[in-house]
Amino acid sequence: MDKLIIRGGNPLLGTVRVSGAKNAALPCMAAALLTDEPVILENIPQVRDIETTRKLLAAMGAEVELGYGRAHHRTTICARTLAAPEASYELVKTMRASTLVLGPLVARCGRAHVSLPGGCAIGARPIDLHIKGLERLGARITQEHGYVQAVADRLKGAEIVFDKITVTGTEDLLMAATLAEGETIMQNCAREPEVADLAALLHAMGAKIQGAGTSTIYVKGVAKLHGAKHRIIPDRIEAGTFIVAGALTGGDLNVAGCDPTHLTAILQKLAETGVKTTLKTDSVRVMGDQPLAAADLNTEEYPGFPTDMQAQFMALATQAAGTSIITENIFENRFMHALELVRMGANVKIEGRRAVVRGVTPLSAAAVLASDLRASASLVLAALVADGETIIDRIYHLDRGYEHIEEKFKAIGAEIRRVGDIFPKRAVAPAHA
Ligand code: UD1
Repeated sequence: MDKLIIRGGNPLLGTVRVSGAKNAALPCMAAALLTDEPVILENIPQVRDIETTRKLLAAMGAEVELGYGRAHHRTTICARTLAAPEASYELVKTMRASTLVLGPLVARCGRAHVSLPGGCAIGARPIDLHIKGLERLGARITQEHGYVQAVADRLKGAEIVFDKITVTGTEDLLMAATLAEGETIMQNCAREPEVADLAALLHAMGAKIQGAGTSTIYVKGVAKLHGAKHRIIPDRIEAGTFIVAGALTGGDLNVAGCDPTHLTAILQKLAETGVKTTLKTDSVRVMGDQPLAAADLNTEEYPGFPTDMQAQFMALATQAAGTSIITENIFENRFMHALELVRMGANVKIEGRRAVVRGVTPLSAAAVLASDLRASASLVLAALVADGETIIDRIYHLDRGYEHIEEKFKAIGAEIRRVGDIFPKRAVAPAHA
């Protein structure tokens, strides 16, 4: 299993370019199931979740070309025939977002057989709202042997009010509604930029949608969608991660190719901690030349502070003077990184959904374990300012969502390298449940 070895202490300097948003690319790839014509997606990040989605779509019978580098991070998906409208447990268990195929499959094929995702490292994460919404659209749903079976002749437009705001739930039902007969009104929708990006693709495919990116979305169903070409938005979480890295290391970093309008809550919170940034239309320059001050943080749905940046902010809070109270409102168990940060010398106390971080504490290198995608990012950030050489194990989590992370960090001055399984087992920290 690959590990990252990071020697802390270098300020990050220069320019780093942000990749396409994984969380926008995944629903857009699923949307290609809605048409028998080719859908071309550009700015696809080269990360493991994309490869998992490629496998998922290919297993159903879609033709998926995926090319990076000279091929400009492009995928062409043609779901001419879908012989097996199914998502197996083998794939869903490695990536919960696989459930995004449920809506498109039942809308296009009239049936879907998709594994239930089960729990994950950050909480229970049920898909009851996806199921309830599809039932509102007329799908008949049964659950057996860990799978959801959905059947419908043709979905029918309906009014759907989400009990709770869900990002992939909004996306799943938005896709389903595009091919439903009649009008669908969805209320209490997620307002994330990734939802709006998916709607932009669906619009290019011939869907009739209004209000995506707001909490009420109207869809007028059409009989058929066609092929389209679409460029995926930049990854706001990757951008946020690099901005925090620049601030934390006392660097001067230009985070290029991002959309600062998607980063408002993150930038406001960083300003509270004393971090200076200057914005251009597609870049953020961060200057870490000021001491950091503690700030409280509440994770919220967009446009609030994203839960996907909470772990990275905690790494920053360990280096900020004073007490920061971090409240995680979206997922019930998203503080796994705190335990590892403590092993590096951080002062973090967990009280239910709150983490109390007292800084400044010097961090010292240790062998640590990545427990989920964003937790891994927070360990990388902590390692960049720790004294000595940190070994981060289980970085396959990181590879799910960060493109070429060590190359990108190396290019801006970090001392970071990837190694295979060269350490004896006993040198590695014990696994968490
Ligand atoms: C998406 C993002 C993930 C991010 C999360 C919250 C993708 C691929 N992933 O995940 O990176 O951390 O949004 O911003 O876009 N819930 C239910 N029932 C449901 C669905 C969700 O109770 O049917 C709950 C969840 O358990 C959670 C909350 O709603 O507590 C929000 O989850 P949701 O927005 O659905 O997260 P994902 O879409 O899975």
